[in-house]
Amino acid sequence: MIERLKNIKEEVLDKIDQATSVDGLNGLRVRYLGRKSELMVLLRKVKSLPEEQRKEAGKLGNDIRKNIEDLINEKVRSLAVGVRDHVIDETLPGKKIQAGKHHPLTLFIRKIKDIFDGMGFEVIDGMEVEIAKYNFDLLNIPRDHPARDHWDTYYVTGGRSTAKTKEPGEQLLLRTHTSPVQLRSMLQRKPPVRLIAPGRTFRHEATDASHESQFYQCEGLVIDEGIKVTDLIGTLKEFLKNIFNEEIKIRVRPEYYPFVEPGMDIDIMCVLCGGKGCSVCSQRGWLEMLGSGMVHPTVLKNMNVDPKKYSGFAFGLGIDRLMMFYYGVKDVRLSYSGDLRFVNQF
Ligand code: DAH
Repeated sequence: MIERLKNIKEEVLDKIDQATSVDGLNGLRVRYLGRKSELMVLLRKVKSLPEEQRKEAGKLGNDIRKNIEDLINEKVRSLAVGVRDHVIDETLPGKKIQAGKHHPLTLFIRKIKDIFDGMGFEVIDGMEVEIAKYNFDLLNIPRDHPARDHWDTYYVTGGRSTAKTKEPGEQLLLRTHTSPVQLRSMLQRKPPVRLIAPGRTFRHEATDASHESQFYQCEGLVIDEGIKVTDLIGTLKEFLKNIFNEEIKIRVRPEYYPFVEPGMDIDIMCVLCGGKGCSVCSQRGWLEMLGSGMVHPTVLKNMNVDPKKYSGFAFGLGIDRLMMFYYGVKDVRLSYSGDLRFVNQF
């Protein structure tokens, strides 16, 4: 019997070694450890062996059985590590994947860029820290003119700025509007030009639901021969139609901006109440959307453009307000709060 037991052990060890699947191993378990297996039959016979053999055969048989069981279990485990189904506990709750979201301002600015790109406009970047010359002087905003107070300016000191010793036009500041991009872009271009420049601007303002000390504007500039006010209005209407997917009524009001003549503000009819007045448009029925006008001849000259030959229009669109209107956001401060509960809604 001892001989036979040893043979069985060798045979099984070989088979376990060669097994490549959990099913195969379970088959071996039945075949070699099952009630009717040869090993079990032999073990049952141990009782009837002569006394002197009984002990040795019983111990050997039991050791072999235990050994086979351990080896099969171990191999099943090692195979299971490679078989994903056996190690993944499908009853465990899944881990939530934290995907980032784009800020609504980012989404809206992309929309604006796409629309103007489709209308043949170049999209350019400006710089957030500007020189007073571009932010004011060359835009026909004289140093002592009261209009300058309109832009509550953050001046920048330190760094490379030597505000006190430098010529006032060289003073560094956080740009108060995107209009300086008009001048900067024309340093490297000749008419005809059609461009937009979206970006962040800064003003020293008290913050409330509709005012922030940082906000986004989109500057637009078109210069060519024979550009008229109707081109400006047509362009803006086409832009609005693309944003809202419907014809939007606008209203043009005269307004003074030193860098345009004539200057005007353009309002859009509140799409929510159809002009009747509601809480979103503060019961006015209209929303102020942008400042615009025909580029002032002095500014054209500052751009090295001949005002006798060329004319142009420019506009400065308030992005935050239009975005809020588009998505139904009620408080501008949410945009800059860093609160992900806000961002994750878009
Ligand atoms: N820069 C002006 C502002 O921030 C807005 C503006 C008005 C821009 C008229 C223009 C313009 O280009 O023509 O208040």
